[in-house]
Amino acid sequence: MPAPYLYDNHGRRINYLRLAVTDRCNLRCFYCMPEQGIRYLPREALLTYEEMARLLRILAGMGIDKVRITGGEPFVRRDMMDFLREISRLEKLKRINITTNGTLTAPLVPELKKLGIHSVNLSLDSLDPRRFFNITRRDVFHQVWETFETLLAHGIDTKINAVVMEGKNTEDIVPMAELTRHYPVSVRFIEEMPFNGEGSHYPVLTWNYRRVLSHLQEHYPGMEKIPDPPHSTSTNYRIPGYQGTVGIIAAYSRTFCGTCNRIRLTPKGMLKTCLYDDGVFNVRDILRAGATDEQIRDTFLQALGNRARDGWEAEKMRTFGVPVQESMATIGG
Ligand code: GTP
Ligand code: 5AD
Ligand code: SF4
Repeated sequence: MPAPYLYDNHGRRINYLRLAVTDRCNLRCFYCMPEQGIRYLPREALLTYEEMARLLRILAGMGIDKVRITGGEPFVRRDMMDFLREISRLEKLKRINITTNGTLTAPLVPELKKLGIHSVNLSLDSLDPRRFFNITRRDVFHQVWETFETLLAHGIDTKINAVVMEGKNTEDIVPMAELTRHYPVSVRFIEEMPFNGEGSHYPVLTWNYRRVLSHLQEHYPGMEKIPDPPHSTSTNYRIPGYQGTVGIIAAYSRTFCGTCNRIRLTPKGMLKTCLYDDGVFNVRDILRAGATDEQIRDTFLQALGNRARDGWEAEKMRTFGVPVQESMATIGG
């Protein structure tokens, strides 16, 4: 008998896993970590590549056909390419996507292409090296730019993720949208969420999706709405005559929860059924206690049967403190 598909208690089918392979990162982005960094997990606390591959195989049998590899920064984990090579053989996995900060990625792009990695989302919050440094606290803009150019040169579908922050990079909104004139890239502006290890940076979110949209519309009165792919986090637009597209992700306002198709596994194996919950159960612990595939499947089914309707409800149900303030690196974005 085929394994049952994963549905939640609101009738939403889950086919997308965000797998955070490490909490480590070589940047210190303002919106993600404090300057001194976070206390990293000891190596034995992380899911091993074997454990992750086993979970992927089980979940692919339950209808997960898209996986996004995130972190921290995925490419700071040793032997990452071996892991990608292994999971690229899983037939039921139709899409393997990666979210990366691009600092170490450029030399790996030819091999990513060969492995059939479908798309790469590049975190890049400024086109100005000084502002980039001010946000990430590391002077590596040029490495990230090289990754961007190499991805496009290899024909890998590329999105740029830019978190919009008052006093940090609002001057970049128009120049970044302008990138779509000559590059076939999707530039997505993201609302800042308080997942930075400290809590909110502002009493209220100063650049919400509406403000980003009005700012863009002022500069591009002819900007057109285009259809959004199913389950898209971004609301998407095109500037007439431009090759790429522009998107806005209401990550804090949470406008897209109704069509949410995703679950997350954190680096230490915690299942999150919503970005805003504080973890439902630790899969690593049941794996290491010797669970069978069947038991693992049952545990996932049970967890999805009790899922919050949206990010607001998930946040309200948290036991480890409201509002959220853990680092995005420990969650996987
Ligand atoms: P695509 O598959 O290319 O659409 O990417 P994605 O938007 O699913 O993933 P990506 O890693 O590029 O994330 C972009 C932004 O969207 C990040 O700031 C994420 O934290 C945010 N995001 C992704 N999934 C969710 C979600 O389920 N809820 C919320 N609120 N934000 C999310
Ligand atoms: N708010 C919004 N987006 C964030 N990201 C990381 N931290 C935050 C935050 N506090 C984004 C990164 C990356 C994606 C996985 O999440 O820019 O592109
Ligand atoms: Fe690193 Fe990404 Fe967090 Fe920046 S957002 S510190 S690149 S994990």
